[in-house]
Amino acid sequence: MRLRSLIGASLALGAGAAYYAWRESKWIDLTETVMEVPELPHGLEGLRILHISDTHFPADGESLPRFLNAVRQLRYDVVFGTGDYVESAAGWPVAVEAMRRIEPGLGIYAVIGGHERYRAIEGAGGGAAWARDLILGRRPADRDPSPFVEALRESGIHVLINQSTAVEIGGEPVRLVGIDDAYHGLDDLPAALGEQGTDSPPSFKILLSHTPDGVLHPLARRIPVALTGHTHGGQIRVPFYGAPVRHARSVSRKRPAGLMWIGETQTYVSRGFGTSGIPLRFGCRPELGVVELRRPARPL
Ligand SMILES: [Fe+2]
Repeated sequence: MRLRSLIGASLALGAGAAYYAWRESKWIDLTETVMEVPELPHGLEGLRILHISDTHFPADGESLPRFLNAVRQLRYDVVFGTGDYVESAAGWPVAVEAMRRIEPGLGIYAVIGGHERYRAIEGAGGGAAWARDLILGRRPADRDPSPFVEALRESGIHVLINQSTAVEIGGEPVRLVGIDDAYHGLDDLPAALGEQGTDSPPSFKILLSHTPDGVLHPLARRIPVALTGHTHGGQIRVPFYGAPVRHARSVSRKRPAGLMWIGETQTYVSRGFGTSGIPLRFGCRPELGVVELRRPARPL
């Protein structure tokens, strides 16, 4: 009898925790982060960046209204996206719709991640393959994301795939540098920088990378600011231990997301808006946020 009670209590506790984690996965945290950048040109003082990452839109668009409602609550000047807009290629139309419906401000600049290249999970065979890849720790990125990228570009989104682009913000020249997914080894920062990799004096640059590991490249030392995602902040955090799963070596289990230095680059790692694999979060709410750039206050 005591054993049955124990099993019953354990099942109830597990079901309660799973229900809480499911609810938490939809409990959006609208974040505001100030990044103090000594090299910041005066014209960029106070620039507010809407940072969209890891939305993992499903094909049925279930999270799209929640996403658009969150965006409408934020005040921003420009939009930067750092990939994993979909869970699999089946979500491409939803992600394009989401991007089209965002007020772009000075523009939407984006890189892509790994999930843009994943096939949809279909049938029992697809589920088994997904479970196998989950255990092995990596799914094959086997879909050509070109149709998705083209659809984004036709909607006016500036997609940077190992490319950089010159923009003017507040009367200041800025170079936005976007690299492809470093998690799958597709990043090429030297190609993205081109001649800007050795310019002197260096122009002010901002790096967009899906994973924070993209900031580990030696050439990133020339870039003072980076925006990234990919880790989901661990998605599931164990109290007093941290995030067991991060899929990035540049972050730690105790600090799997947030504002941090990677080398000489001040980097923001978003917890992301969506979930991947399991639709649960624990101790790690989904995030949609603004990063505000400022020059450091002068010491008194
Ligand atoms: Fe992701």
